[in-house]
Amino acid sequence: MAAHDEEALGRAYDSRLMRRLLQYLWPYWHHALLALLAIVSASVLQLAQPWITKLAIDRYIATGDLAGLNTLALAFLGVLVASFTLEYVQTWLMQMTGQRIMRDVRMEVATHLQRIDLAHYDRTPVGRLMTRVTTDVDVLNEMFSSGVVAIFGDVFTLVGIMVVLTTMDWRLALLTFSVLPVIVVITQWFRRRVRESYRQVRTWIARINAFLQENVTGMSTVQVFGRESRNFATFGGINAAHRDVNIDGIFYYAVFYPAIEFVSALATAMIIFMGGGWVGEGTLTLGAMVAFIQYAQRFFRPISDMSEKFNVLQSAMASSERIFGLLDTPISISSPAVPVVRPVADGSARGHIVFEHVWFAYRDEAWVLRDVSFEVQPGQRVGVVGATGAGKTTVINLVLRFYDVQQGRILVDGIDVRDWPLQELRRRFGLVLQDVHLFSGTVAANIRLGSAHLDDDVVRRAAEAVHADAFIARMPDGYQTPVAERGATLSVGQKQLLSFARALAHDPGVLVLDEATSSVDTETELLIRDALRTLMAGRTTIAIAHRLSTIQDMDRILVMHRGELREQGTHQELLAQRGIYHRLYQLQYRDQEPRIGV
Ligand SMILES: Nc1ncnc2c1ncn2[C@@H]1O[C@H](COP(=O)(O)OP(=O)(O)OP(=O)(O)O)[C@@H](O)[C@H]1O
Ligand SMILES: [Mg+2]
Repeated sequence: MAAHDEEALGRAYDSRLMRRLLQYLWPYWHHALLALLAIVSASVLQLAQPWITKLAIDRYIATGDLAGLNTLALAFLGVLVASFTLEYVQTWLMQMTGQRIMRDVRMEVATHLQRIDLAHYDRTPVGRLMTRVTTDVDVLNEMFSSGVVAIFGDVFTLVGIMVVLTTMDWRLALLTFSVLPVIVVITQWFRRRVRESYRQVRTWIARINAFLQENVTGMSTVQVFGRESRNFATFGGINAAHRDVNIDGIFYYAVFYPAIEFVSALATAMIIFMGGGWVGEGTLTLGAMVAFIQYAQRFFRPISDMSEKFNVLQSAMASSERIFGLLDTPISISSPAVPVVRPVADGSARGHIVFEHVWFAYRDEAWVLRDVSFEVQPGQRVGVVGATGAGKTTVINLVLRFYDVQQGRILVDGIDVRDWPLQELRRRFGLVLQDVHLFSGTVAANIRLGSAHLDDDVVRRAAEAVHADAFIARMPDGYQTPVAERGATLSVGQKQLLSFARALAHDPGVLVLDEATSSVDTETELLIRDALRTLMAGRTTIAIAHRLSTIQDMDRILVMHRGELREQGTHQELLAQRGIYHRLYQLQYRDQEPRIGV
Protein backbone atom coordinates (compact mmCIF):
# COMPACT_ATOMS: atom_id res chain seq x y z
CA MET A 1 0.00 0.00 0.00
CA ALA A 2 1.22 3.43 -0.91
CA ALA A 3 1.84 4.90 2.48
CA HIS A 4 5.62 5.16 2.68
CA ASP A 5 5.91 8.90 2.09
CA GLU A 6 3.08 9.70 4.44
CA GLU A 7 4.87 8.18 7.39
CA ALA A 8 7.82 10.48 7.37
CA LEU A 9 7.77 13.19 10.01
CA GLY A 10 11.05 14.97 10.30
CA ARG A 11 12.23 17.99 12.16
CA ALA A 12 9.91 20.74 13.29
CA TYR A 13 12.12 23.31 11.76
CA ASP A 14 14.23 23.09 8.67
CA SER A 15 15.60 26.42 7.58
CA ARG A 16 15.91 25.36 3.97
CA LEU A 17 12.25 24.35 3.79
CA MET A 18 11.16 27.33 5.85
CA ARG A 19 12.91 29.79 3.58
CA ARG A 20 11.17 28.27 0.60
CA LEU A 21 7.81 28.27 2.39
CA LEU A 22 8.17 31.90 3.33
CA GLN A 23 8.45 32.72 -0.35
CA TYR A 24 4.77 31.88 -0.58
CA LEU A 25 4.08 34.35 2.20
CA TRP A 26 6.07 37.04 0.42
CA PRO A 27 3.31 38.30 -1.92
CA TYR A 28 1.16 38.89 1.17
CA TRP A 29 3.88 40.27 3.42
CA HIS A 30 1.95 43.45 4.19
CA HIS A 31 -0.94 41.36 5.49
CA ALA A 32 1.41 39.20 7.51
CA LEU A 33 3.13 42.27 8.94
CA LEU A 34 -0.19 43.83 9.87
CA ALA A 35 -1.24 40.57 11.53
CA LEU A 36 2.02 40.46 13.42
CA LEU A 37 1.49 44.02 14.68
CA ALA A 38 -2.04 43.09 15.70
CA ILE A 39 -0.80 40.03 17.57
CA VAL A 40 1.91 41.91 19.44
CA SER A 41 -0.48 44.75 20.31
CA ALA A 42 -3.04 42.23 21.50
CA SER A 43 -0.36 40.65 23.71
CA VAL A 44 0.45 44.03 25.23
CA LEU A 45 -3.22 44.62 25.94
CA GLN A 46 -3.43 41.17 27.51
CA LEU A 47 -0.60 42.18 29.78
CA ALA A 48 -2.40 45.40 30.65
CA GLN A 49 -5.55 43.79 32.03
CA PRO A 50 -4.14 42.37 35.30
CA TRP A 51 -2.18 45.58 35.73
CA ILE A 52 -5.39 47.61 35.59
CA THR A 53 -6.88 45.25 38.18
CA LYS A 54 -3.90 45.92 40.41
CA LEU A 55 -4.33 49.68 40.05
CA ALA A 56 -8.05 49.41 40.73
CA ILE A 57 -7.53 47.53 43.95
CA ASP A 58 -4.49 49.30 45.36
CA ARG A 59 -5.10 52.84 44.27
CA TYR A 60 -8.87 53.22 44.17
CA ILE A 61 -10.71 50.47 46.05
CA ALA A 62 -8.31 50.52 48.99
CA THR A 63 -8.62 54.31 49.22
CA GLY A 64 -12.34 54.47 48.43
CA ASP A 65 -11.79 56.72 45.40
CA LEU A 66 -14.88 55.66 43.44
CA ALA A 67 -14.64 58.39 40.79
CA GLY A 68 -11.15 57.18 39.89
CA LEU A 69 -12.46 53.62 39.84
CA ASN A 70 -15.08 54.59 37.26
CA THR A 71 -12.45 56.08 35.00
CA LEU A 72 -10.34 52.95 35.33
CA ALA A 73 -13.34 50.73 34.60
CA LEU A 74 -13.84 52.67 31.38
CA ALA A 75 -10.19 52.22 30.53
CA PHE A 76 -10.58 48.48 31.14
CA LEU A 77 -13.56 48.37 28.82
CA GLY A 78 -11.52 50.22 26.22
CA VAL A 79 -8.74 47.66 26.51
CA LEU A 80 -11.25 44.82 26.08
CA VAL A 81 -12.77 46.37 22.97
CA ALA A 82 -9.33 47.03 21.51
CA SER A 83 -8.29 43.42 22.22
CA PHE A 84 -11.38 42.16 20.49
CA THR A 85 -10.75 44.33 17.45
CA LEU A 86 -7.12 43.32 17.21
CA GLU A 87 -7.92 39.65 17.46
CA TYR A 88 -10.56 40.01 14.81
CA VAL A 89 -8.10 41.77 12.49
CA GLN A 90 -5.42 39.19 13.13
CA THR A 91 -7.69 36.17 12.62
CA TRP A 92 -9.16 37.60 9.46
CA LEU A 93 -5.79 38.52 7.97
CA MET A 94 -4.07 35.25 8.78
CA GLN A 95 -6.92 33.04 7.62
CA MET A 96 -7.23 35.00 4.42
CA THR A 97 -3.50 34.80 3.79
CA GLY A 98 -3.61 31.06 4.48
CA GLN A 99 -6.39 30.59 1.94
CA ARG A 100 -4.53 32.60 -0.69
CA ILE A 101 -1.31 30.72 -0.16
CA MET A 102 -3.22 27.46 -0.38
CA ARG A 103 -4.63 28.53 -3.72
CA ASP A 104 -1.17 29.58 -4.97
CA VAL A 105 0.45 26.31 -3.96
CA ARG A 106 -2.36 24.25 -5.53
CA MET A 107 -2.06 26.17 -8.78
CA GLU A 108 1.66 25.63 -8.83
CA VAL A 109 1.31 21.90 -8.17
CA ALA A 110 -1.43 21.57 -10.79
CA THR A 111 0.65 23.41 -13.38
CA HIS A 112 3.55 21.15 -12.64
CA LEU A 113 1.40 18.03 -12.86
CA GLN A 114 0.49 18.98 -16.41
CA ARG A 115 4.12 19.25 -17.45
CA ILE A 116 5.57 16.18 -15.75
CA ASP A 117 6.80 13.42 -18.07
CA LEU A 118 4.40 10.54 -18.61
CA ALA A 119 7.12 8.23 -17.31
CA HIS A 120 6.62 9.76 -13.87
CA TYR A 121 2.94 8.83 -13.94
CA ASP A 122 3.87 5.25 -14.81
CA ARG A 123 5.60 5.06 -11.43
CA THR A 124 3.39 7.18 -9.16
CA PRO A 125 0.01 6.07 -7.81
CA VAL A 126 -2.73 8.59 -8.49
CA GLY A 127 -3.78 8.54 -4.84
CA ARG A 128 -0.43 9.91 -3.78
CA LEU A 129 -0.63 12.82 -6.20
CA MET A 130 -4.13 13.57 -4.95
CA THR A 131 -2.81 13.73 -1.39
CA ARG A 132 -0.20 16.29 -2.43
CA VAL A 133 -2.81 18.60 -3.87
CA THR A 134 -5.33 18.16 -1.05
CA THR A 135 -4.15 17.12 2.42
CA ASP A 136 -0.58 18.35 2.18
CA VAL A 137 -1.66 21.78 1.01
CA ASP A 138 -4.22 21.91 3.82
CA VAL A 139 -1.44 21.37 6.33
CA LEU A 140 0.47 24.30 4.88
CA ASN A 141 -2.62 26.43 5.23
CA GLU A 142 -2.83 25.52 8.87
CA MET A 143 0.74 26.55 9.37
CA PHE A 144 0.30 29.91 7.73
CA SER A 145 -3.07 30.71 9.24
CA SER A 146 -2.47 29.61 12.81
CA GLY A 147 1.16 28.75 13.23
CA VAL A 148 4.00 30.91 12.08
CA VAL A 149 2.88 34.37 13.06
CA ALA A 150 0.98 33.30 16.17
CA ILE A 151 4.14 31.76 17.61
CA PHE A 152 5.62 35.26 17.74
CA GLY A 153 2.60 36.32 19.75
CA ASP A 154 3.06 33.44 22.18
CA VAL A 155 6.72 34.13 22.69
CA PHE A 156 6.04 37.80 23.15
CA THR A 157 3.30 37.16 25.75
CA LEU A 158 5.49 34.67 27.59
CA VAL A 159 8.49 36.99 27.81
CA GLY A 160 6.25 39.94 28.64
CA ILE A 161 4.61 38.15 31.56
CA MET A 162 7.98 37.00 32.88
CA VAL A 163 9.33 40.56 32.84
CA VAL A 164 6.21 42.02 34.48
CA LEU A 165 6.12 39.32 37.18
CA THR A 166 9.77 39.75 38.03
CA THR A 167 9.51 43.51 38.34
CA MET A 168 6.31 43.31 40.39
CA ASP A 169 7.61 40.92 43.02
CA TRP A 170 10.60 38.66 42.51
CA ARG A 171 9.64 36.28 45.36
CA LEU A 172 6.24 35.49 43.87
CA ALA A 173 7.81 35.35 40.41
CA LEU A 174 10.23 32.65 41.53
CA LEU A 175 7.34 30.79 43.10
CA THR A 176 5.39 30.87 39.85
CA PHE A 177 8.38 29.82 37.76
CA SER A 178 9.06 26.92 40.12
CA VAL A 179 6.34 24.86 38.42
CA LEU A 180 7.89 25.42 35.01
CA PRO A 181 10.00 22.22 35.03
CA VAL A 182 6.82 20.20 35.59
CA ILE A 183 5.18 21.99 32.69
CA VAL A 184 8.18 21.33 30.47
CA VAL A 185 8.11 17.60 31.29
CA ILE A 186 4.38 17.29 30.65
CA THR A 187 4.64 19.25 27.43
CA GLN A 188 7.52 17.18 26.11
CA TRP A 189 5.66 13.97 26.86
CA PHE A 190 2.54 15.27 25.15
CA ARG A 191 4.36 16.55 22.12
CA ARG A 192 6.17 13.28 21.53
CA ARG A 193 3.11 11.13 21.94
CA VAL A 194 0.88 13.31 19.83
CA ARG A 195 3.45 13.48 17.09
CA GLU A 196 3.68 9.72 16.96
CA SER A 197 -0.07 9.29 16.99
CA TYR A 198 -0.45 11.94 14.30
CA ARG A 199 2.04 10.07 12.15
CA GLN A 200 0.09 6.86 12.57
CA VAL A 201 -3.23 8.53 11.83
CA ARG A 202 -1.80 9.86 8.60
CA THR A 203 -0.46 6.47 7.63
CA TRP A 204 -3.80 4.81 8.16
CA ILE A 205 -5.67 7.53 6.31
CA ALA A 206 -3.34 7.04 3.38
CA ARG A 207 -4.13 3.32 3.52
CA ILE A 208 -7.87 3.97 3.63
CA ASN A 209 -7.54 6.23 0.58
CA ALA A 210 -5.40 3.81 -1.35
CA PHE A 211 -7.72 0.92 -0.56
CA LEU A 212 -10.87 2.79 -1.55
CA GLN A 213 -9.37 4.19 -4.70
CA GLU A 214 -8.21 0.82 -5.94
CA ASN A 215 -11.37 -1.04 -5.00
CA VAL A 216 -13.90 1.52 -6.14
CA THR A 217 -12.17 1.77 -9.51
CA GLY A 218 -12.20 -2.00 -9.81
CA MET A 219 -15.70 -2.46 -8.43
CA SER A 220 -16.89 -4.67 -11.28
CA THR A 221 -14.00 -7.07 -10.75
CA VAL A 222 -14.68 -7.06 -7.02
CA GLN A 223 -18.30 -7.95 -7.62
CA VAL A 224 -17.72 -10.53 -10.33
CA PHE A 225 -15.19 -12.43 -8.25
CA GLY A 226 -17.33 -12.17 -5.14
CA ARG A 227 -14.63 -10.42 -3.19
CA GLU A 228 -17.09 -8.14 -1.37
CA SER A 229 -16.98 -9.78 2.03
CA ARG A 230 -13.23 -10.32 1.93
CA ASN A 231 -12.66 -6.71 0.90
CA PHE A 232 -15.09 -5.56 3.53
CA ALA A 233 -13.13 -7.44 6.17
CA THR A 234 -9.84 -5.91 4.96
CA PHE A 235 -11.38 -2.47 5.01
CA GLY A 236 -12.82 -3.14 8.45
CA GLY A 237 -9.34 -3.94 9.70
CA ILE A 238 -7.83 -0.76 8.28
CA ASN A 239 -10.71 1.29 9.59
CA ALA A 240 -10.43 -0.17 13.09
CA ALA A 241 -6.71 0.55 13.18
CA HIS A 242 -7.43 4.12 12.16
CA ARG A 243 -9.98 4.43 14.95
CA ASP A 244 -7.57 3.02 17.51
CA VAL A 245 -4.69 5.35 16.71
CA ASN A 246 -7.13 8.27 16.81
CA ILE A 247 -8.37 7.20 20.22
CA ASP A 248 -4.78 7.06 21.42
CA GLY A 249 -4.36 10.61 20.26
CA ILE A 250 -7.52 11.71 22.04
CA PHE A 251 -6.21 10.17 25.25
CA TYR A 252 -3.09 12.36 25.13
CA TYR A 253 -5.15 15.49 24.61
CA ALA A 254 -7.53 14.46 27.35
CA VAL A 255 -4.63 14.16 29.77
CA PHE A 256 -2.58 17.11 28.63
CA TYR A 257 -4.95 20.04 28.98
CA PRO A 258 -6.31 19.08 32.43
CA ALA A 259 -2.72 18.46 33.57
CA ILE A 260 -1.69 21.95 32.53
CA GLU A 261 -4.81 23.32 34.25
CA PHE A 262 -3.90 21.40 37.36
CA VAL A 263 -0.36 22.74 37.49
CA SER A 264 -1.52 26.28 36.87
CA ALA A 265 -4.11 25.92 39.67
CA LEU A 266 -1.31 24.65 41.87
CA ALA A 267 0.72 27.74 41.06
CA THR A 268 -2.29 29.90 41.92
CA ALA A 269 -2.71 28.13 45.24
CA MET A 270 0.94 28.75 46.10
CA ILE A 271 0.58 32.42 45.18
CA ILE A 272 -2.46 32.77 47.44
CA PHE A 273 -0.81 30.85 50.28
CA MET A 274 2.53 32.64 50.29
CA GLY A 275 1.23 35.94 48.88
CA GLY A 276 -1.55 36.01 51.50
CA GLY A 277 1.08 35.89 54.22
CA TRP A 278 3.14 38.64 52.59
CA VAL A 279 0.06 40.82 52.22
CA GLY A 280 -0.53 40.35 55.94
CA GLU A 281 3.08 41.33 56.61
CA GLY A 282 2.59 44.35 54.40
CA THR A 283 5.41 43.46 51.97
CA LEU A 284 2.91 42.90 49.12
CA THR A 285 -0.19 44.83 48.15
CA LEU A 286 -3.48 43.00 47.70
CA GLY A 287 -3.77 44.35 44.15
CA ALA A 288 -0.38 42.96 43.24
CA MET A 289 -1.41 39.55 44.52
CA VAL A 290 -4.63 39.52 42.53
CA ALA A 291 -2.72 40.66 39.45
CA PHE A 292 -0.22 37.89 40.04
CA ILE A 293 -2.93 35.27 40.07
CA GLN A 294 -4.25 36.57 36.77
CA TYR A 295 -0.80 36.70 35.21
CA ALA A 296 0.01 33.19 36.34
CA GLN A 297 -3.10 31.89 34.63
CA ARG A 298 -2.20 33.68 31.42
CA PHE A 299 1.34 32.43 31.67
CA PHE A 300 0.59 28.76 31.03
CA ARG A 301 -1.73 29.18 28.11
CA PRO A 302 0.90 30.22 25.55
CA ILE A 303 3.06 27.31 26.70
CA SER A 304 0.42 24.74 25.88
CA ASP A 305 -0.49 26.63 22.69
CA MET A 306 3.10 26.58 21.58
CA SER A 307 3.40 22.84 21.96
CA GLU A 308 0.43 22.48 19.64
CA LYS A 309 1.92 24.88 17.15
CA PHE A 310 5.13 22.97 17.31
CA ASN A 311 3.24 19.97 15.98
CA VAL A 312 1.61 22.04 13.26
CA LEU A 313 5.03 23.25 12.27
CA GLN A 314 6.38 19.75 12.21
CA SER A 315 3.65 18.38 9.98
CA ALA A 316 3.97 21.44 7.78
CA MET A 317 7.66 20.68 7.32
CA ALA A 318 6.86 17.10 6.35
CA SER A 319 4.11 18.16 3.96
CA SER A 320 6.17 20.87 2.38
CA GLU A 321 9.00 18.42 1.87
CA ARG A 322 6.60 16.16 -0.05
CA ILE A 323 5.12 19.04 -2.03
CA PHE A 324 8.53 20.42 -2.93
CA GLY A 325 9.62 16.91 -3.84
CA LEU A 326 6.83 16.85 -6.40
CA LEU A 327 7.51 20.38 -7.60
CA ASP A 328 11.17 19.47 -8.03
CA THR A 329 10.47 16.43 -10.18
CA PRO A 330 12.73 17.14 -13.11
CA ILE A 331 10.96 17.63 -16.41
CA SER A 332 13.09 16.17 -19.14
CA ILE A 333 10.53 16.49 -21.90
CA SER A 334 10.06 20.17 -22.59
CA SER A 335 10.48 22.66 -25.39
CA PRO A 336 14.10 23.40 -26.23
CA ALA A 337 15.52 26.66 -24.94
CA VAL A 338 16.23 27.73 -28.50
CA PRO A 339 13.71 26.10 -30.83
CA VAL A 340 14.91 25.53 -34.36
CA VAL A 341 13.55 28.00 -36.88
CA ARG A 342 11.67 25.95 -39.40
CA PRO A 343 12.36 26.62 -43.06
CA VAL A 344 8.83 25.59 -44.03
CA ALA A 345 5.85 27.75 -43.15
CA ASP A 346 3.00 26.26 -41.10
CA GLY A 347 0.33 24.37 -42.95
CA SER A 348 2.23 23.57 -46.12
CA ALA A 349 4.16 20.75 -44.46
CA ARG A 350 1.88 17.75 -44.20
CA GLY A 351 4.03 15.56 -42.03
CA HIS A 352 7.23 13.87 -43.02
CA ILE A 353 8.29 11.41 -40.34
CA VAL A 354 11.64 9.65 -40.08
CA PHE A 355 12.87 7.15 -37.50
CA GLU A 356 16.66 6.87 -37.56
CA HIS A 357 18.13 3.90 -35.67
CA VAL A 358 15.84 4.41 -32.72
CA TRP A 359 16.53 2.52 -29.52
CA PHE A 360 14.12 2.94 -26.66
CA ALA A 361 13.40 1.46 -23.24
CA TYR A 362 10.81 2.57 -20.70
CA ARG A 363 13.17 1.48 -17.97
CA ASP A 364 16.95 1.05 -17.93
CA GLU A 365 18.09 -1.20 -20.73
CA ALA A 366 14.96 -3.29 -21.21
CA TRP A 367 14.81 -2.41 -24.90
CA VAL A 368 11.30 -2.09 -26.23
CA LEU A 369 12.44 -0.74 -29.59
CA ARG A 370 15.70 -1.92 -31.14
CA ASP A 371 17.31 -0.04 -33.95
CA VAL A 372 14.06 0.93 -35.65
CA SER A 373 14.37 2.94 -38.86
CA PHE A 374 11.65 3.90 -41.32
CA GLU A 375 10.36 6.89 -43.23
CA VAL A 376 6.86 8.12 -43.85
CA GLN A 377 6.50 10.54 -46.77
CA PRO A 378 4.06 13.46 -46.54
CA GLY A 379 0.56 12.26 -47.37
CA GLN A 380 1.55 8.60 -47.18
CA ARG A 381 -0.64 6.15 -45.28
CA VAL A 382 1.33 3.64 -43.28
CA GLY A 383 -0.02 0.73 -41.30
CA VAL A 384 1.76 -0.88 -38.37
CA VAL A 385 1.08 -4.47 -37.35
CA GLY A 386 2.60 -6.94 -34.95
CA ALA A 387 1.73 -9.16 -32.03
CA THR A 388 0.69 -7.72 -28.71
CA GLY A 389 3.61 -6.13 -26.87
CA ALA A 390 5.64 -5.78 -30.07
CA GLY A 391 6.13 -2.06 -29.49
CA LYS A 392 3.52 -0.50 -31.78
CA THR A 393 2.02 1.92 -29.25
CA THR A 394 5.53 2.77 -28.17
CA VAL A 395 6.29 4.05 -31.68
CA ILE A 396 3.41 6.51 -31.31
CA ASN A 397 4.51 7.53 -27.82
CA LEU A 398 7.85 8.49 -29.28
CA VAL A 399 6.58 10.41 -32.30
CA LEU A 400 4.43 12.57 -30.01
CA ARG A 401 7.34 12.82 -27.61
CA PHE A 402 5.57 11.44 -24.56
CA TYR A 403 8.92 9.76 -23.99
CA ASP A 404 12.37 10.50 -25.39
CA VAL A 405 14.47 8.01 -27.30
CA GLN A 406 17.69 6.73 -25.76
CA GLN A 407 19.57 6.38 -29.05
CA GLY A 408 18.95 7.50 -32.59
CA ARG A 409 16.51 10.23 -33.47
CA ILE A 410 13.07 10.97 -34.80
CA LEU A 411 12.52 13.71 -37.35
CA VAL A 412 9.22 15.40 -38.04
CA ASP A 413 9.31 17.60 -41.14
CA GLY A 414 13.08 17.41 -41.07
CA ILE A 415 13.51 18.52 -37.46
CA ASP A 416 14.39 16.36 -34.47
CA VAL A 417 11.32 16.12 -32.24
CA ARG A 418 13.49 17.31 -29.36
CA ASP A 419 14.11 20.58 -31.18
CA TRP A 420 10.44 21.32 -31.75
CA PRO A 421 8.49 23.54 -29.39
CA LEU A 422 6.39 20.85 -27.70
CA GLN A 423 2.99 22.44 -28.23
CA GLU A 424 3.66 23.09 -31.86
CA LEU A 425 4.87 19.56 -32.46
CA ARG A 426 1.86 17.96 -30.81
CA ARG A 427 -0.58 20.32 -32.49
CA ARG A 428 0.31 18.84 -35.87
CA PHE A 429 -0.99 15.43 -34.83
CA GLY A 430 -4.46 14.05 -34.49
CA LEU A 431 -4.34 11.17 -32.09
CA VAL A 432 -6.82 8.35 -31.71
CA LEU A 433 -5.75 6.08 -28.89
CA GLN A 434 -6.38 2.47 -28.05
CA ASP A 435 -8.47 3.38 -25.08
CA VAL A 436 -10.39 6.54 -25.70
CA HIS A 437 -10.48 9.01 -22.86
CA LEU A 438 -13.69 10.97 -22.53
CA PHE A 439 -14.20 13.73 -20.01
CA SER A 440 -17.34 14.47 -18.08
CA GLY A 441 -19.23 17.05 -20.13
CA THR A 442 -21.46 16.96 -23.19
CA VAL A 443 -20.89 14.93 -26.34
CA ALA A 444 -20.17 18.15 -28.24
CA ALA A 445 -17.66 19.29 -25.61
CA ASN A 446 -15.87 15.96 -25.92
CA ILE A 447 -15.51 16.40 -29.67
CA ARG A 448 -14.49 20.04 -29.36
CA LEU A 449 -12.20 19.33 -26.42
CA GLY A 450 -11.72 22.95 -25.47
CA SER A 451 -10.96 24.30 -28.95
CA ALA A 452 -13.41 27.16 -28.85
CA HIS A 453 -12.94 27.95 -32.54
CA LEU A 454 -14.72 24.72 -33.49
CA ASP A 455 -18.34 25.82 -33.77
CA ASP A 456 -21.37 23.52 -33.59
CA ASP A 457 -21.37 23.18 -37.33
CA VAL A 458 -17.82 21.85 -37.51
CA VAL A 459 -18.58 19.45 -34.67
CA ARG A 460 -21.70 18.16 -36.39
CA ARG A 461 -20.04 17.75 -39.77
CA ALA A 462 -17.12 15.87 -38.22
CA ALA A 463 -19.51 13.52 -36.43
CA GLU A 464 -21.47 12.94 -39.62
CA ALA A 465 -18.35 12.22 -41.64
CA VAL A 466 -17.32 9.42 -39.29
CA HIS A 467 -20.86 8.06 -38.89
CA ALA A 468 -21.08 9.04 -35.24
CA ASP A 469 -24.17 11.17 -35.85
CA ALA A 470 -26.54 8.20 -35.90
CA PHE A 471 -25.99 7.13 -32.33
CA ILE A 472 -25.60 10.70 -31.08
CA ALA A 473 -29.03 11.49 -32.55
CA ARG A 474 -30.49 8.61 -30.58
CA MET A 475 -29.20 10.03 -27.30
CA PRO A 476 -31.74 11.97 -25.18
CA ASP A 477 -30.27 15.43 -25.79
CA GLY A 478 -28.26 14.75 -28.92
CA TYR A 479 -25.00 16.65 -28.91
CA GLN A 480 -25.85 18.19 -25.56
CA THR A 481 -26.19 14.83 -23.82
CA PRO A 482 -23.85 14.65 -20.84
CA VAL A 483 -21.12 12.03 -20.96
CA ALA A 484 -20.27 10.37 -17.66
CA GLU A 485 -16.77 10.34 -16.24
CA ARG A 486 -14.46 8.18 -18.37
CA GLY A 487 -17.33 7.79 -20.85
CA ALA A 488 -18.81 5.04 -18.69
CA THR A 489 -22.21 5.37 -20.37
CA LEU A 490 -20.98 4.73 -23.90
CA SER A 491 -20.04 1.53 -25.67
CA VAL A 492 -16.49 0.93 -26.85
CA GLY A 493 -17.45 1.30 -30.51
CA GLN A 494 -19.28 4.55 -29.77
CA LYS A 495 -16.30 5.92 -27.92
CA GLN A 496 -14.09 5.03 -30.85
CA LEU A 497 -16.36 6.85 -33.28
CA LEU A 498 -16.48 9.87 -30.98
CA SER A 499 -12.71 9.98 -30.87
CA PHE A 500 -12.63 9.85 -34.69
CA ALA A 501 -14.99 12.83 -34.76
CA ARG A 502 -12.72 14.57 -32.29
CA ALA A 503 -9.66 14.00 -34.47
CA LEU A 504 -11.42 15.01 -37.68
CA ALA A 505 -12.86 18.20 -36.20
CA HIS A 506 -9.37 19.34 -35.29
CA ASP A 507 -8.19 18.72 -38.86
CA PRO A 508 -4.63 17.64 -38.05
CA GLY A 509 -1.84 17.44 -40.58
CA VAL A 510 -0.82 13.99 -39.43
CA LEU A 511 -3.17 11.33 -38.18
CA VAL A 512 -1.92 8.83 -35.66
CA LEU A 513 -4.21 5.99 -34.86
CA ASP A 514 -4.02 3.13 -32.42
CA GLU A 515 -6.85 0.75 -33.15
CA ALA A 516 -8.78 -0.64 -30.22
CA THR A 517 -8.49 -4.38 -29.83
CA SER A 518 -11.97 -4.90 -28.48
CA SER A 519 -14.47 -6.54 -30.72
CA VAL A 520 -17.16 -4.52 -32.38
CA ASP A 521 -19.94 -5.97 -34.45
CA THR A 522 -19.49 -6.30 -38.20
CA GLU A 523 -21.73 -3.37 -38.95
CA THR A 524 -19.81 -1.08 -36.61
CA GLU A 525 -16.57 -2.40 -38.04
CA LEU A 526 -17.69 -1.38 -41.50
CA LEU A 527 -18.69 2.01 -40.19
CA ILE A 528 -15.34 2.42 -38.52
CA ARG A 529 -13.46 1.36 -41.63
CA ASP A 530 -15.38 3.85 -43.73
CA ALA A 531 -14.88 6.55 -41.07
CA LEU A 532 -11.18 5.86 -41.18
CA ARG A 533 -11.05 6.37 -44.92
CA THR A 534 -12.62 9.80 -44.42
CA LEU A 535 -10.24 10.56 -41.61
CA MET A 536 -7.11 9.59 -43.55
CA ALA A 537 -7.98 11.41 -46.75
CA GLY A 538 -5.21 13.85 -47.61
CA ARG A 539 -3.28 13.29 -44.40
CA THR A 540 -0.09 11.56 -43.49
CA THR A 541 -1.28 8.61 -41.47
CA ILE A 542 0.31 6.12 -39.14
CA ALA A 543 -2.29 3.54 -38.24
CA ILE A 544 -1.72 0.67 -35.87
CA ALA A 545 -4.14 -2.08 -36.71
CA HIS A 546 -5.17 -5.32 -35.14
CA ARG A 547 -7.56 -6.22 -37.93
CA LEU A 548 -5.47 -6.62 -41.05
CA SER A 549 -8.55 -5.71 -43.07
CA THR A 550 -8.18 -2.14 -41.80
CA ILE A 551 -4.82 -1.60 -43.44
CA GLN A 552 -4.79 -3.79 -46.53
CA ASP A 553 -4.99 -0.88 -48.91
CA MET A 554 -2.40 1.25 -47.11
CA ASP A 555 0.57 2.61 -49.06
CA ARG A 556 2.93 0.68 -46.85
CA ILE A 557 2.77 -1.70 -43.93
CA LEU A 558 5.40 -1.99 -41.18
CA VAL A 559 5.64 -5.30 -39.37
CA MET A 560 6.94 -5.10 -35.80
CA HIS A 561 8.22 -8.10 -33.96
CA ARG A 562 9.62 -7.93 -30.43
CA GLY A 563 10.73 -4.34 -30.76
CA GLU A 564 12.26 -4.73 -34.18
CA LEU A 565 10.97 -3.62 -37.52
CA ARG A 566 11.16 -6.89 -39.37
CA GLU A 567 9.31 -6.37 -42.63
CA GLN A 568 7.87 -3.53 -44.66
CA GLY A 569 6.05 -3.19 -47.94
CA THR A 570 2.55 -3.25 -49.43
CA HIS A 571 0.05 -5.93 -48.53
CA GLN A 572 0.83 -7.85 -51.71
CA GLU A 573 4.59 -7.56 -51.34
CA LEU A 574 4.48 -8.74 -47.75
CA LEU A 575 2.29 -11.70 -48.58
CA ALA A 576 4.73 -12.64 -51.31
CA GLN A 577 7.62 -12.55 -48.81
CA ARG A 578 5.91 -15.36 -46.86
CA GLY A 579 7.31 -14.01 -43.59
CA ILE A 580 5.74 -12.76 -40.38
CA TYR A 581 3.02 -10.80 -42.12
CA HIS A 582 2.07 -13.80 -44.16
CA ARG A 583 1.78 -15.86 -41.00
CA LEU A 584 -0.35 -13.20 -39.28
CA TYR A 585 -2.58 -13.06 -42.30
CA GLN A 586 -2.99 -16.81 -42.39
CA LEU A 587 -3.80 -16.90 -38.69
CA GLN A 588 -6.38 -14.22 -39.08
CA TYR A 589 -8.20 -15.69 -42.00
CA ARG A 590 -7.79 -19.37 -41.29
CA ASP A 591 -11.04 -19.61 -39.36
CA GLN A 592 -12.57 -16.54 -40.95
CA GLU A 593 -11.63 -14.95 -37.66
CA PRO A 594 -11.00 -11.40 -38.75
CA ARG A 595 -8.62 -10.24 -36.03
CA ILE A 596 -5.41 -10.95 -34.22
CA GLY A 597 -3.86 -9.68 -31.08
CA VAL A 598 -5.80 -9.91 -27.89
N1 LIG B 1 4.66 2.78 -19.65
C1 LIG B 1 5.38 1.65 -19.76
N2 LIG B 1 6.33 1.35 -18.85
C2 LIG B 1 7.06 0.23 -18.94
N3 LIG B 1 6.90 -0.67 -19.92
C3 LIG B 1 5.98 -0.45 -20.86
C4 LIG B 1 5.17 0.73 -20.82
N4 LIG B 1 4.32 0.69 -21.87
C5 LIG B 1 4.61 -0.45 -22.53
N5 LIG B 1 5.59 -1.13 -21.93
C6 LIG B 1 6.20 -2.39 -22.41
O1 LIG B 1 6.70 -2.15 -23.69
C7 LIG B 1 6.43 -3.23 -24.56
C8 LIG B 1 5.74 -2.72 -25.81
O2 LIG B 1 4.49 -2.17 -25.45
P1 LIG B 1 3.53 -1.51 -26.51
O3 LIG B 1 2.44 -0.86 -25.75
O4 LIG B 1 4.31 -0.66 -27.43
O5 LIG B 1 2.97 -2.77 -27.28
P2 LIG B 1 1.92 -2.83 -28.47
O6 LIG B 1 2.64 -3.36 -29.64
O7 LIG B 1 1.23 -1.54 -28.62
O8 LIG B 1 0.92 -3.96 -27.92
P3 LIG B 1 -0.68 -4.06 -28.10
O9 LIG B 1 -0.92 -4.66 -29.44
O10 LIG B 1 -1.09 -5.01 -27.03
O11 LIG B 1 -1.25 -2.71 -27.94
C9 LIG B 1 5.61 -4.21 -23.75
O12 LIG B 1 6.47 -5.27 -23.37
C10 LIG B 1 5.16 -3.48 -22.54
O13 LIG B 1 5.17 -4.31 -21.42
MG1 LIG C 1 -0.67 -0.91 -28.13
